[in-house]
Amino acid sequence: MTETTSPRWLRWPEGSSHRRIAYGADYNPDQWPREVWDEDVRLMRAAGVNIVSLAIFSWARIQPTEQSWDFEWLDDVIDLLHANGIAVDLATATASPPPWLTRRYPEVLPVAHGGETLWPGARQHWRPTSPVFREHALRLVTAIAERYAQHPAIAAWHVNNELGCHNAYDYSDDAARAFRDWLRGRYGNLDALNHAWGTAFWSQRYSEWDEILPPRVATSHSNPTQQLDFKRFSSDALKDYLRAERDVLRRLTPNIPVTTNFMVMAQTKAMEYPSWAREIDFVSNDHYVIPREQSSDELSFSANLTSNIAGGRPWFLMEHSTSAVNWQPVNLPKKPGEMIRDSLTHVAHGADAVCFFQWRQSAAGAEKYHSAMVPHAGEDTDVFRSVTELGRTLEALAPVVGSVRKTAPVAILFDWDSWWASEQDSHPSTHLDYHQEALDWYSALLALGVRADVVPAGGDLAQYDVVVAPVLHVMPSALATQLARYVEDGGHLVTTYFSGIVDENDHVWLGGYPGALRDLLGVRVEEFAPLLPGESVTLDSGATGSLWSERLEVTDPQVKVLASYASGEHSGRAAVTRRSTGDGSATYVSTRLGADGVEPLLAELLASAGVSGDLPLGTGRRVELVVRTDGTDEFWFLVNRTSEPVEVPGLTGDMLTGDVLTGRDTDAGSVATDHTVTLVPRGVAVLRRPLTGRLAHAGV
Ligand code: GAL
Repeated sequence: MTETTSPRWLRWPEGSSHRRIAYGADYNPDQWPREVWDEDVRLMRAAGVNIVSLAIFSWARIQPTEQSWDFEWLDDVIDLLHANGIAVDLATATASPPPWLTRRYPEVLPVAHGGETLWPGARQHWRPTSPVFREHALRLVTAIAERYAQHPAIAAWHVNNELGCHNAYDYSDDAARAFRDWLRGRYGNLDALNHAWGTAFWSQRYSEWDEILPPRVATSHSNPTQQLDFKRFSSDALKDYLRAERDVLRRLTPNIPVTTNFMVMAQTKAMEYPSWAREIDFVSNDHYVIPREQSSDELSFSANLTSNIAGGRPWFLMEHSTSAVNWQPVNLPKKPGEMIRDSLTHVAHGADAVCFFQWRQSAAGAEKYHSAMVPHAGEDTDVFRSVTELGRTLEALAPVVGSVRKTAPVAILFDWDSWWASEQDSHPSTHLDYHQEALDWYSALLALGVRADVVPAGGDLAQYDVVVAPVLHVMPSALATQLARYVEDGGHLVTTYFSGIVDENDHVWLGGYPGALRDLLGVRVEEFAPLLPGESVTLDSGATGSLWSERLEVTDPQVKVLASYASGEHSGRAAVTRRSTGDGSATYVSTRLGADGVEPLLAELLASAGVSGDLPLGTGRRVELVVRTDGTDEFWFLVNRTSEPVEVPGLTGDMLTGDVLTGRDTDAGSVATDHTVTLVPRGVAVLRRPLTGRLAHAGV
């Protein structure tokens, strides 16, 4: 268990309680006249806000010209916050370069895929590899760190902001130079690079390093390994920039922890966060919900993955929205209860901080229609009332601070290399959606009421009864060996189409698909047979496959065919297979079944693996259970996934979101004397129960 006073978490001001969930927002007082700040602080106190992220986009205000600095306003606001017991997550302010900088040094501006310069006018218009940008940015970081090193309000440093949100891929000459250096580090010599990139193809052989470029717009498909390496490099270039800011901060203020806000969510794939997490003191994440069928599943999936990227340690939800955003084609407000439910789902998955973009809704600028804690309509609003209610609820949840998510019986492997490589061009199908496939398996597990961990590939699997590896496309031999050993040792592996196909250089494992997993699965595929959009195949199990099918041949007598194609070209051939070895098994699914289609398959596998849910059967479809533990107690988070009330019978424990189990009504739900928790629509209940002794689930 992580100590709440660990230096790897917020440095709360002396005298304040460390056992509290951080609550607040991005605060942009520089958008408002001074008198509004007093009103802000009054409302922050009313809402229970105890931390704000400050100065994220304030570079032009702090350093109005190359030679002048203006810190007085920032001194004033930090002092005001501190005097009111509000801690500061202070940004390094480097996210949006000021006009003087880009006018005088236009060579910092990023260059798009097709060679156009990305001009100032928005934000993040800087090249991650620009030495000129870095010099100016680090000068700013140094000035801020020196000025506030001793200020007791500073609880953490917030490096830049959402690194890579708008400038992840830069194709400039600076990027080309840095890419070559990165490639030299990876391959050592050009022969190794020529081999890895398969440059014998299309006359691409390199004789000098300077011939190598980023994959700029080309006549046709750029070299796939060049593309994959450019993705790896671009993530590493941003990570290197993160390290540069962090090093300045650690040198000047070793006692203040450093974080930066990740964007672990379906719509962001450019940054390989598992390796980034090792560079900072604690993980922070931003998450925005895109309204769609599986949106609450996606939120849970992302929060779960964030927790595992954070190595199970508590993490900081740096941004989400109180209601609508402004950047989708149509921006829907949140429904009653949704904002609190979403917030508490993040807490369930290990967040010890809940913050929003932003505190006060802007009156001007590109985000004026983005919701905030204080909306345009002011404090007499449902949004502000919910914000205040959430503040109270988080105070009541103080006992969970420092606890960690309890390991689940099932793991879903999530791998950035496979995400990047499987969706590249010139493939059997460009409709493959890596994240969606992983999410479908997660949705099925939620529906079955079985807890799962979404874990970065490469970690320890021994603790899991079942491991699902959807589209694990890039399969270095070490990973194939790890999976084979896992099954040999009695584990149950499930994998899908387009897994095990290439090595780390994106070279196909020869001899038939699924390459590196052929023997483990006991099947061989001669040809992929992807399906056209809208086309589907039926299986004799009644399931429907889309996107993909295969001409599958069973090569091992220990393989059992679980389902066969019942329509299409491959009718009669195996579609879903399982090879059992000793206590373990390896299941292969050769088509896309979707969440509903994989559910019965998983149900059967979980039953044979002896894995069951913690709640009454059938509850999962409506309620997500997440468990945190501090070694003494367990905290059961029951999240109503529906817009209807839901009853969960047979529970014991103390209700943290309301009262002890007495039958009294609470904000999130009510507890009946028969130990049935009734969750209101979109409600959440949190029960604390001792780790030893009787299980919380008494009735069923
Ligand atoms: C984030 C960003 C915030 C704000 C927010 C709006 O990407 O960090 O500054 O723009 O989105 O949803």
